[in-house]
Amino acid sequence: MLEDMEKCRNTAIIVAAGSGNRLGSDIPKQFLKLNGREILSYSVKSFQNHPDVDALVIVTSAEYFEHVSASYPDCHVVIGGSTRQESVTNGMQAITDGTELVLVHDAARPLVSHDIISECLEKLMHFDGVAPAIKPTDSMIMINGEDFDPLERSSLRIVQTPQCFHADTLNKAHNSGVVDTDEMGLVRRAVPSARLGFAEGSPANMKVTRALDLEILQLVLNAGT
Ligand code: C5P
Repeated sequence: MLEDMEKCRNTAIIVAAGSGNRLGSDIPKQFLKLNGREILSYSVKSFQNHPDVDALVIVTSAEYFEHVSASYPDCHVVIGGSTRQESVTNGMQAITDGTELVLVHDAARPLVSHDIISECLEKLMHFDGVAPAIKPTDSMIMINGEDFDPLERSSLRIVQTPQCFHADTLNKAHNSGVVDTDEMGLVRRAVPSARLGFAEGSPANMKVTRALDLEILQLVLNAGT
């Protein structure tokens, strides 16, 4: 895949430079194992197997650079930054000029499906940016000091990755100086004219954050085998 970077229309950037310290493990969550396989390897495989993804960039920390380069020889590996946005910026610098679509995915979401990737790419025919999202199932509130305000659940969404964009839109956002926690938020503020849409996400496309998440993912994987 690396040799083909010259003619890669659609490139996935998998961000794997976080330290994942909310899990209480010395090993960052993307390098923990599920069914004997590194969490990062699941999403790498999903994007590599997708016929409309031409190239893969993995962004990782300096500490894991050699490990990732050796484990994923078909991917372009670059070193990330101290925030997720800096890591994505470094990944963007590794994509080639001819790139049309960029898919930014959290390495900590191992169970992204073929259908989610396909729907995001299809919707990019009508939008400048598309991300998978799901409806919350719990009641939602906003804490307001000692008080709280109930939120209308039907108009809320939980936004997942891959967050997918036309490369020129994402480049513009990253060069704007605006800072945000994810690409949809960043593009919305940095490029107000961008048309942003959503695809159907999945609860299985969850992000490993707490120790219990690993057990839930293990159950999901077992149910699928
Ligand atoms: O910390 P959080 O779960 O929000 O991180 C989401 C994704 O962003 C993870 O896959 C993590 O490895 C990545 N990340 C990164 N560089 C950072 C921080 C997070 O690539 N500096």
